[in-house]
Amino acid sequence: MVRRTVALLWLAAALLFGTTGAHALEPQTIEATCSGCHGPQGVSMVPNFPSIAGQPADFIMYTLKAYQKGVWPAQMMTSFVQGRSEADLRDMAEYYSEQDWVPRPQETEPELVKQGKRIHEALCQKCHRAGGREPADYEPILAGQWMPYLRRALEEYAAGERPMVKGRGKGPKIRQLTEEDIEPLVHFYGSAGAQ
Ligand code: HEC
Ligand code: HEC
Repeated sequence: MVRRTVALLWLAAALLFGTTGAHALEPQTIEATCSGCHGPQGVSMVPNFPSIAGQPADFIMYTLKAYQKGVWPAQMMTSFVQGRSEADLRDMAEYYSEQDWVPRPQETEPELVKQGKRIHEALCQKCHRAGGREPADYEPILAGQWMPYLRRALEEYAAGERPMVKGRGKGPKIRQLTEEDIEPLVHFYGSAGAQ
């Protein structure tokens, strides 16, 4: 009887280690799945695909789950997150959060950049610190992100199509953004990578 109990405990321990120890996604596997669109080490080469290098792990995790649940508008992400375990998503989020953010080089209009800076300081700076350069737990880097992606994201927020991280809601402020606010904001953030 004692011997049987010991054997069972041993089996239970083996199962436990088997499920917690192994299965970490290797960086090469993540790169092979994601870098075709998000670029090597998450630095995107294509304006429609957001850069994800150096974004906070909690933010990345939130977005991946939002695509998985279908609550964020996604044109392309759904199939890459469907059926993935929480642990897989966490490995991806951690891998990309450890890479270096590289502002994307793009053309901006100085007048719009100035206007955007004013709107940013009035409505956005509180959470997106240092002109959107400094990430927090859930607040992503905005400065130097591809402009077409930022424009689309802001239009989706303004239309109420992208639910925010709970408790961090920008609520009324972002819902009130019009085309006249969005374009200057996009140029302001884009100017971080201006050549
Ligand atoms: C076929 C291209 C493609 C592939 C492959 C792809 N993505 Fe994406 N990803 C996108 C696009 C496009 C968006 C913007 C939302 C949308 O339109 O789907 C996005 C959005 C994201 C975002 C949100 C970024 C932000 O700033 O809000 C994260 C994080 C992300 N992808 C991670 C990943 C990971 C991790 C993988 C690999 C498992 C991956 N993606 C594979 C195209 C792709
Ligand atoms: C109360 C804090 C807060 C305020 C104020 C705020 N944001 Fe955010 N923002 C966040 C958080 C948290 C996220 C992470 C994603 C989410 O919750 O949707 C985010 C995400 C974003 C994204 C998506 C970036 C990406 O890569 O997907 C953009 C663009 C953005 N904010 C722009 C703005 C602009 C422009 C303003 C001002 C008009 C603003 N935010 C005001 C907290 C805030």
